[in-house]
Amino acid sequence: MGNPINGSRSTLIFMAEEIKKILLIGADGQLGTDLVKVLQKDYELLCPLLDEFDITHFEKVKEYVKTHAPDLIINTAAFHNTDECEKNPEKSFLVNTFAVKNLSEICKEKDILLVHISTDYVFGLDEKRRIPYTEEDLPGPVNIYGISKNWKSTLANPKGRLIFRCFTL
Ligand SMILES: NC(=O)c1ccc[n+]([C@@H]2O[C@H](COP(=O)([O-])OP(=O)(O)OC[C@H]3O[C@@H](n4cnc5c(N)ncnc54)[C@H](OP(=O)(O)O)[C@@H]3O)[C@@H](O)[C@H]2O)c1
Repeated sequence: MGNPINGSRSTLIFMAEEIKKILLIGADGQLGTDLVKVLQKDYELLCPLLDEFDITHFEKVKEYVKTHAPDLIINTAAFHNTDECEKNPEKSFLVNTFAVKNLSEICKEKDILLVHISTDYVFGLDEKRRIPYTEEDLPGPVNIYGISKNWKSTLANPKGRLIFRCFTL
């Protein structure tokens, strides 16, 4: 599978045709619920819930991916209550950074495209910034949540990944 980041639109369409089975992480969350409605018509969807699939259980995640062999993984799981993140930075970095790092390494090893949902909190709340942000904008997180979601710069480069830094859902 090619790298969609530098790929052309036709590359993305080509990759979309290759995708049959999708592992959707966080399928009962706000975004996950909507994605299920949209994706279930056209794809085989794997939607394990937290009690069966916890992204912080690194080895189990690896085993699950090996067993089920999805073509695409969409990660909507997060620890995103900003106040709770300040109180519990360990959990913030475990869920939002290290579990994502683990996922990306598995995807790199298995040549699976990873779609990860991030947040505009990685840019901070500087009112002087031009909106909308571009991919070239430098991060400037001002809280634990924003720092922990700014995983892009800290990771080895997987073969294929898309990161959506959403403002709101
Ligand atoms: N909501 C927004 O306005 C907004 C804005 C910008 C960016 N985002 C980002 O968009 C993504 C989706 O947000 P959302 O609002 O849909 O979140 P959400 O409603 O809280 O859903 C998160 C989902 O992830 C699951 N989850 C939590 N911890 C997990 C773990 N350790 N392992 C596996 N699954 C786990 C949750 O399961 P349980 O329900 O069992 O806890 C839930 O199904 C997040 O990455 C968030 O940072 C959201």
